[in-house]
Order: sequence, then structure tokens, then C-alpha cells
Amino acid sequence: MITESLAAWSRGAQAVALLSAANESGYLAYLATPRTLDEFAQFAGLPDGTAADLLAALAAHDVISSSDGQFQLTEDTAAAFDGIRDIGAKIEEAALAVRRVAEVTRTGSAPLTDSDALLVAKASALRPSGSPASQAIITKVLDATPEIRDILAAGGRLLDVGSGVSGFVVNALSLLPSMRATTVELVGEVAAVPAAKAKELGIDDRLDVRVMDARDFDEPAAYDAAFWAQPFFSNSTRAAALAMILRSLRPGGLLMVQQIAAEPAESAAHAEFLLRRLVAHAHDVPYARPIDSVAEEVSLAGFEIVRVTVTPFGPIALARRPLPALQGSATR
Ligand SMILES: C[S@@+](CC[C@H](N)C(=O)[O-])C[C@H]1O[C@@H](n2cnc3c(N)ncnc32)[C@H](O)[C@@H]1O
Repeated sequence: MITESLAAWSRGAQAVALLSAANESGYLAYLATPRTLDEFAQFAGLPDGTAADLLAALAAHDVISSSDGQFQLTEDTAAAFDGIRDIGAKIEEAALAVRRVAEVTRTGSAPLTDSDALLVAKASALRPSGSPASQAIITKVLDATPEIRDILAAGGRLLDVGSGVSGFVVNALSLLPSMRATTVELVGEVAAVPAAKAKELGIDDRLDVRVMDARDFDEPAAYDAAFWAQPFFSNSTRAAALAMILRSLRPGGLLMVQQIAAEPAESAAHAEFLLRRLVAHAHDVPYARPIDSVAEEVSLAGFEIVRVTVTPFGPIALARRPLPALQGSATR
């Protein structure tokens, strides 16, 4: 019934508002260290009563806990902030998703600003950190695609199309000392993140960061493998993006594509799925396209499908640029 559901929806929306504002205002980072109410109130510039209510609300949501008059992130929250995914970006992306549903509902569209695109890219990727925990995930992905792992380990070149913050590429470069990569990303603010991180990690001599529309990239037959962030490409750009990837791979070169979201069976999750789909479709982006259908799209673009498989990144399809047919081999 709508009256009961409304209470739950309202709780969820208020919790997202609380968390995102607390994160944006720097309160969560401040509470990484134990603080008294007075210290927190002074830091936040809030009256003592409001600060106390705010700490109580954060504690009720298991974000912080208190002991001996001091308030601090719970172990779980602190671990999430140190984790392989950017939880701060995930919190802020949850608030962005709420705003976008409202905007699409009102106007039919909710275009991303460059800083929104940065949030989405950070929230949907591993941190490009080169940390041992991230490397462990990338190792599992590469183990599921040994053809790509072996080429890259032997000094092959990867083209990352729609690279976002390059969680995959930066961690893979930090793991495979001979691998080289070129990333292609539309939004400069997003591409700046892996460029800076690569410099910090001393791997920037093996990473070429391009800010451009992937459809305009032009380096024929120069790459051994490619990774296409297909879930983020609009219908109007997909065929041209795939044609570019086909051209950029050497004959026999491999393409990896992944499916991120999937249509859930359970009804509460399905309602959220439909809201995400509403926003994606309003921007001409297919949502949760099943991997078999992505493989078909890739095949129609001229690739040979090698296989469809499941990795720690979810389902992926592996395809290959066909080798030229051998002249006269059929007549012997
Ligand atoms: C969220 S990222 C993918 C994450 C990435 N695979 C990783 O490992 O971190 C997808 C990116 O594709 C970019 N994109 C979408 N269409 C594009 C296009 N036509 N050319 C270049 N980049 C594009 C978006 O700006 C977005 O940042």
C-alpha cells in the first residue's frame, strides 16, 4: 500500500540526504578520529543541540558509534572509506540518482555536468589505486581472460574505451610491468584522475590518456586488446565506437566487454532497477543489456565471439578482430 511504502521511501531518501550532506561537509572524514560533541559542533559550525541530534542520527544509521563521550566512524564505515571502491563517491552518486529521477520525471532529461560524470565514474569503478587489494581483484579478472592477460603481460597495448577513472587500467598497469595502455575518455575532469594517479605511481610512461569522443580515435591496427565500457555508451554512439575498436585492433586482437547491471527478480530491487532504467533510457543509454545481447551487437559489428563468461566484474564477452582469410586455402 502506498501509505506504508511512502514511510520506507521517505526513510531511505532522508538517510541518503543525511549521509551525502555529512560526507560533502567533511563530517565523516572528521569523525574518522574520535571526537567529543563540543569538538564536532565547533568543526561543523552547528549549535550544540543540532550537532547532538546529527550525531544521534548518524549513530542510528550505524555510520558512527560512541563510547566514553567520543564519537567515531564504526569499524565498518571506516573500512569502507579505506576500501577498494570509493564509498564517498558512492554516497554522493546515490544523492545524484535521487535528483536525476526528479529531473527526468519533471523534464524528461537530466544531463550530467562534468562533475556529475566524475562522481558516476568514481562510483562505478575500482579506485585506480594500485593497492594490493585492487590488484587481487584485477588478477581474478585477468585469470578469467588469460588470452588478454598473457598478451598484456608480454608488453601488449590495451585500448580502454570510455575509461572513466581507469580503475581497471591503472591497477592492471601497476600489476603488469610491461603492459602499455591508451585510455579514451570524453570528460577531461574524469580523465585527469588516472593521469594524476599514474604519475604518482610512476607508471605514466606506459599510460597515454586521451580526452576525446571515442568515435574520433584514429590509430588503425595499433592495439592488441581493447576494453569497452559499453554500459555507458548511448545508442547513437555504439556502432561507431565498435567500428573504431575494430579498426584500432590488430587482426586477431581481443575485445572485452562487460555487463554491469542486471534485471533483478525480487520486487523491491526491481522497483529501484526501473528508476535507474528510467534515467538511463532518458539519455538514450541501454540499461542492463544482457551480455548475450551485447555479444550479438559486437558480432554484428564484425567481431568473432570467443566466449561469454563470468568474472569478478560480472558477465563479460570476449571477442576478436577476425584474421584475414587465407588466400586459396579452400582449393587445396
Ligand atoms: C564509468 S566509465 C567506465 C569505468 C571503467 N571501465 C573503469 O574500469 O574504471 C565510462 C565512461 O565512458 C565515458 N564515455 C561515454 N561515451 C563516450 C564516448 N563517446 N567517448 C569517450 N568516452 C565516453 C563516460 O564519460 C564515462 O566516464
